[in-house]
Amino acid sequence: MIQTIEKHQQDFDARIGASTSLDELKQMRIEFLGKKGCVSQFMKDLRSAPPEEKPALGKHINELKEHIERLLTEKTEELEKKSAGASGAVAGFDASLPGKKEIAGSTHPITEMLDEITSIFFSLGFQVEEGPEIETDYYNFEALNIPKDHPARDMQDTFYIEEEVVLRTHTSPVQIHVMEKQKPPLRIIAPGKVYRCDSDISHTPMFHQIEGLMVDENISFSHLKGVIQIFLHQVFGEKTEVRFRPSFFPFTCPSAEVDIQCVICSGKGCRVCSNSGWLEILGAGMVDPAVFKSVDYDPERWTGFAFGLGIERIAMLKYGINDIRLFFENDLRFLKQF
Ligand code: DAH
Repeated sequence: MIQTIEKHQQDFDARIGASTSLDELKQMRIEFLGKKGCVSQFMKDLRSAPPEEKPALGKHINELKEHIERLLTEKTEELEKKSAGASGAVAGFDASLPGKKEIAGSTHPITEMLDEITSIFFSLGFQVEEGPEIETDYYNFEALNIPKDHPARDMQDTFYIEEEVVLRTHTSPVQIHVMEKQKPPLRIIAPGKVYRCDSDISHTPMFHQIEGLMVDENISFSHLKGVIQIFLHQVFGEKTEVRFRPSFFPFTCPSAEVDIQCVICSGKGCRVCSNSGWLEILGAGMVDPAVFKSVDYDPERWTGFAFGLGIERIAMLKYGINDIRLFFENDLRFLKQF
């Protein structure tokens, strides 16, 4: 039996010397030390050995077991160190320390609001158009039926570059550019930056608007109401009350201002809605025949509606932001919330 034990030890020594993987070591542990392994078998055989041989045999078996255990542990440690080295570990590297978090940027809340509004109108069949931010007096005012003495032309409001060249004060001039190029029917929205010489808690010199224009035969005020209602319900929720109030814009007739029930107090009256229960959201109306004439559309044949809204205002109401300047201060504590 002693010879068999020694043969097993030689066998084990040869295999552990040649082993290269932790899996192999696991397998050897089962073969040599497991329930059905050779050490267990020697223990069983020991019971039937002649009593005078038992002490010497027992000692041999125990030595074999310890030898196998020790070598398996040493080799396991050696192979584990090697595999850590291969995965880039170096001395002094603590793999249990938390990693460095990568901070990803996110879309600006105004861009997000613009995208949301654009996709609503896109689903209603409106195409996106763009126009220049530097405009002539003609496109920004004249063609939109805004006479020379209109307050919007005031030096206080408009950034003049030259006498006849301005930074556009609204996105409405895109209506003119589009109608000059395309014949009806058309359905467009025009998002973009606009500029006014104004700065306080609810005004910044640059802000964003979206213009809308739909022209076809037999377009009526009810089409305008339907489109605006769908849009506002999608942004503020299906239950939001919408109302149209008579108003005046030189380029639409009749004109309306559109309000929604105050999103802060649900119409009860609060500081944000000046206790009226309503919030003004956008301007709209039926395209004035004078505008059609300036682009050579026949006002007898074509009718249309237009609307314009401020993106910042919608975003402020939707997200409960009380100071428009926060959008442009690049404070990450603010921007990260979106
Ligand atoms: N351009 C107007 C403004 O900046 C907004 C506006 C009102 C646009 C009525 C329109 C409209 O197209 O029909 O105040």
